[in-house]
Amino acid sequence: MLFENPRASRSVYPADLQEVMSVSSAHQSRDWLSSWEHLSQNSTPLWSLPGVAKEAGVAQFWVKDESVRSPLASFKALGAPIALIRLILRLMPHESFDPRGLITGRYQNDLRDFTVISATDGNHGRALAAAAQSVGCKCVIVLHANVSTERETAIAEYGAQIIRIDGNYDESVEHTAKLAEQNGWPVVSDTSYEGYEVVPRDVMQGYGTISAELIEQTTVDIQVACPFTHVFLQGGVGGMAAGISSYLWEVYQEQRPTFIMVEPKQADCLYQSAVQGRPAKATGSVDSVMAGLACGETSPLAWRFLEPSVDFFLTISDEDAIGAMRLLARGSATDIPIVAGESGVAGLAALKILVRDSEAAKKVGIGSDSRVLIISTEGATAPAVYESLVGESAEAVGARQRNWQLKQL
Ligand SMILES: Cc1ncc(COP(=O)(O)O)c(C=O)c1O
Repeated sequence: MLFENPRASRSVYPADLQEVMSVSSAHQSRDWLSSWEHLSQNSTPLWSLPGVAKEAGVAQFWVKDESVRSPLASFKALGAPIALIRLILRLMPHESFDPRGLITGRYQNDLRDFTVISATDGNHGRALAAAAQSVGCKCVIVLHANVSTERETAIAEYGAQIIRIDGNYDESVEHTAKLAEQNGWPVVSDTSYEGYEVVPRDVMQGYGTISAELIEQTTVDIQVACPFTHVFLQGGVGGMAAGISSYLWEVYQEQRPTFIMVEPKQADCLYQSAVQGRPAKATGSVDSVMAGLACGETSPLAWRFLEPSVDFFLTISDEDAIGAMRLLARGSATDIPIVAGESGVAGLAALKILVRDSEAAKKVGIGSDSRVLIISTEGATAPAVYESLVGESAEAVGARQRNWQLKQL
């Protein structure tokens, strides 16, 4: 289902939003995290896939591939660690910690009795657990019933204490809030709620690194135009989309690209927010193969950025996502094979739906001169799930990717 947002604007990036999230603080976050052992020192690849572009009838199709951002295998490695650093700096100003020293464990003796807590669908918790381990503090992660044991093990590997609840993601958020209050543990969440905005703002701001790299990686004269006409952003609570779109909006102002939000049908909280004109809840079961997008409630802070900037909202089915995973894994003579996880491929699934329907494509302005970007936000973060859906392991796809690259030499 496609919804055109009547509140989207092509004004300059508003000053009140810039006070909350800005290019300059995104750059500071990038700098502070640059020495973290769990982050790649290089930018993640921006692959051009001419075969997909041709089939979709667009001029160019790019995939920003976050699978290699970190051994944690998702873009979330950019959010939780910077939020943890900024939280410690705020809570302990008298210590005069050096932010770069925090993430390399220089102050672990001072922080061993400090505990943070978060609810998670998997990727955020894994990034927070790894960041807490690097910093030298304790971490408690609350998991909802639908998080796979494979994802649980991946979090526990970084020394976090895991608490499992019976309910869904939103109930895990409530349970976390209770435990935090009882024990005096600060919450490091990627979603905001009433009275809780600073930490999720820092998480979102961390994702701005992706936009910074995108601009560095594209050759179009940035003084003239944005290299992308259409940017597909997948949504859970909306934080990733807000972090990336706000940066591009501030850089390109009225010439910002068209932003298209993509969500699972069963977890359509952002779509519903657009329809209702306020942060809303999902209408479906909030269970999806796209585990990272299976969120039932919009982050109100993220919504402040998305409401005026996302032009279209679209929902997709699990089958659409699985088809897109297979397409990217397969590759072709012209297109490099890519390991893209369940939540990573939502943008490609959405593009395929749009170009099948000429009315919808016209409405969104996608055509032969479009330069389309998707952000593959994760690789095989749940390797067994990946293999069962794609019919090939992530290692095998990775090996075909290397062979493909060798053939290009
Ligand atoms: C791989 C992946 N992509 C996208 C998202 C969506 O991010 P957000 O919840 O900030 O909208 C998530 C969230 O966990 C994720 O894990």
